Amino acid sequence: MTKIEKKFPEGFLWGGATAANQMEGGFHEGSKGLNIADVLPGGKERLKILQSPGFDFEIHKEKYSYPNHEAIDFYHRYKEDIALFAEMGFKVYRMSIAWTRIFPKGDELEPNEDGLAFYDRVFDELHKYGIEPVVTISHYEMPVNLVKEYGGWRSREVVTFFERYVNAIFNRYKNKVKYWMTFNEINSGLIMPIMGLGFAIHQEEDKYQPTFQAYHHQFVASSIAVKACREIIPNAQIGCMILYAPVYSYDCNPENVMYALQEDRIFNYFCADVQVRGEYPAFIKRYFKEHNIELEIQEGDLELMKENTVDYIGFSYYMSRTEKKVKTAEEAAQGNILSGVKNPFLKASDWGWEIDPIGLRISLNELYDRYQVPLFVVENGLGAIDKVEEDGTINDDYRIDYLRDHIKAMAEAIEDGVELMGYTSWGCIDLVSASTGEFSKRYGFIYVDKHDDGSGTLERKKKKSFYWYKDVIASNGEML
Ligand code: BG6
Repeated sequence: MTKIEKKFPEGFLWGGATAANQMEGGFHEGSKGLNIADVLPGGKERLKILQSPGFDFEIHKEKYSYPNHEAIDFYHRYKEDIALFAEMGFKVYRMSIAWTRIFPKGDELEPNEDGLAFYDRVFDELHKYGIEPVVTISHYEMPVNLVKEYGGWRSREVVTFFERYVNAIFNRYKNKVKYWMTFNEINSGLIMPIMGLGFAIHQEEDKYQPTFQAYHHQFVASSIAVKACREIIPNAQIGCMILYAPVYSYDCNPENVMYALQEDRIFNYFCADVQVRGEYPAFIKRYFKEHNIELEIQEGDLELMKENTVDYIGFSYYMSRTEKKVKTAEEAAQGNILSGVKNPFLKASDWGWEIDPIGLRISLNELYDRYQVPLFVVENGLGAIDKVEEDGTINDDYRIDYLRDHIKAMAEAIEDGVELMGYTSWGCIDLVSASTGEFSKRYGFIYVDKHDDGSGTLERKKKKSFYWYKDVIASNGEML
C-alpha cells in the first residue's frame, strides 16, 4: 500500500455498487414479473439479439441461456453478501430496486407486498451494520409488459405508472433510504435504447424522434420523482445518474475539436443539463431542427422540470473517448461501447475499454465547473478475468492498480476544489455483465463461483482486492 498526502473529506461515502437484475436472481420469486434483463440472452451478442427486428421479448430456452435468471442468487444470499460488505467497512451500498418486484407488470394499481417486503429485509440487514443504501429507482429493469403493450418510454402513460412506483417505494422506505437516483445512465438511451428506454431502433435514421420523446417522458418522470421525494422524505437526497466519458479531440484540427465538443454536449451533457438546470440547453434547438425532432410537451411539463431539479449528479466512469470527425475502420477503438478512435496514449482492458484515470479527474472537474452541485462516482471498476490459484487465493493486483489510480485521481480532483460525496466501485461482488451477459467479466472484491456455461457452486471468496479496499476505507483513502 502507498500513503497519499491528499485527504478525502470526513464522512466520505465509500462503498460498492450493483444492480438488481445483474445479481438478485429469483426472477420468478415473490410474484416478480418479467423485466428486460430476464429476456436478455447470455453472450456477447445479447444486445444485438434483443434489438433485432421481430424479437418478441419472450424467453427461448431452446436457443439461449439466461444468466440473469439466477445471477449470483443475492435474493437468497443477501445476508452473507451484506456481511462481507460490512467486513470491508462499506459506509454505503448502491443497489437498485427491481420495478417488477413492486409492480410485476408495471401498470397495476397496487404494489406487490412480497416485493416490498424483500427490500425491507435487505435495507434492515444493511442498517444492522450501519450501511446506508443508495438506491437507483430504475436500472435497466423495465417491466416487459410496458415494453410490449406501451412501447416503453415512447408512451406518455408510462410516466403515470412510474409515478405510482416511486410513490409506493418512497412511502414504504421513507425511514430506511436517504440517497436515491432516478434513471441509471439516462444518457445511454442514445446508444442502447432498449436497456434504458424500453424499445429497439432498427434504422439509425429512425432513432432521433422516439429517443428524444422518450427522454422527455423520463425528464418529466424524474421531476415527478424529485418532487415526491422532497414531499415524502424531506431529509433525503435525490440525484440523476449519467454515463460520463469525457470526449477528447484526436488532435488540434479545429474540425475535430468542434466535432468532439458536439459529441460531448449531446452525449455527456444534454440529460444532465435538463435534470440539473431544469431546462433544455440552448444547443439542443439546432440539433432538434437538424434531426427533425419535434417534441410533444404537455402544459406544465417545463415548469415541473424547472422546479424539481436533482440534488447531486451520480455518474459512472470507466473510460474516456477520443473523437475525430472522419475516421477509418482501422482507427476505431475496438470494444469501446462509445465508438471513437483509439487513443495512442492509453491501454485497454481485456474487453477493449480504454483505461484512463486522469480522465476521471478531468470528468470531475468538467462536471463541477459546469454545474456546481455535489458529485458522486457511483460506478467505476475493471472488468477482468480472475484466476483462482490452487491454494484458493485470487491475486487481482491488476484490479488494485486500476482502482488505486482512479482513487488517486479523485483525491486530486477534491484538491482541485470539486465537491465529491463518495465512491461506489462497480460490481463489488462478481455479477452478470450488462453488455455481454458474461460471468467471466469480473469486477468484484468478492469472487463468486459461477461461470459462463451456468456451472458453479455460487460460493463466495475474498480476493486480494477485498483486503486492500478494506484498508482503503479504514484509512479514509489515505492508504492506497
Ligand atoms: C454500466 C451499467 O454501464 O456499466 C452497469 O450501469 C454495467 O449495469 C457496468 O454492468 C459495466 O458494464 P458491463 O457491460 O461490463 O457489465
